[in-house]
Amino acid sequence: MSETLYDALRESHEIQRSLFRKLLRTQPGTRARLDLFTQTRHEMAAHEAAEERFLYVPMLMDDMGLWSSRHALHEHHQIDELVEDLQSIDGHDEAWIETARQLSHKVHHHLREEEKKFFQVSGKILSDAQKVSLAAQYRKDYARMHRSFAAS
Ligand SMILES: [Fe+2]
Ligand SMILES: [Fe+2]
Repeated sequence: MSETLYDALRESHEIQRSLFRKLLRTQPGTRARLDLFTQTRHEMAAHEAAEERFLYVPMLMDDMGLWSSRHALHEHHQIDELVEDLQSIDGHDEAWIETARQLSHKVHHHLREEEKKFFQVSGKILSDAQKVSLAAQYRKDYARMHRSFAAS
């Protein structure tokens, strides 16, 4: 059976969960903290952008998907703002881990809501053929975003 969009999306969700587990265990001011934060930021940004384009844009086009996609895009924005806050805090600072925990909490909530609710809503909107072709388009864009982060 061909891969669907949801298989591809869940793969990044698992990567994000595992990165946050490691990130929250890092020590203040270490290289590991900095590197893991960069990796986590890039994973979230590549996933978010490709997911917005290939899951939420098609959902937005259908009345049934309007509320869910709006809600999810709003959460993406809130997550981006928390990432920006965290970037402005020194890795030695006590506030860092507190903000990182807040971000992790927000992301975990978001991923769960997508997996339990929004994927199901979109499942009723997209055809089986679309679920397969959108997976390929999502993967291509996600990989392109990762390459552009690696080059910068
Ligand atoms: Fe998302
Ligand atoms: Fe997602």
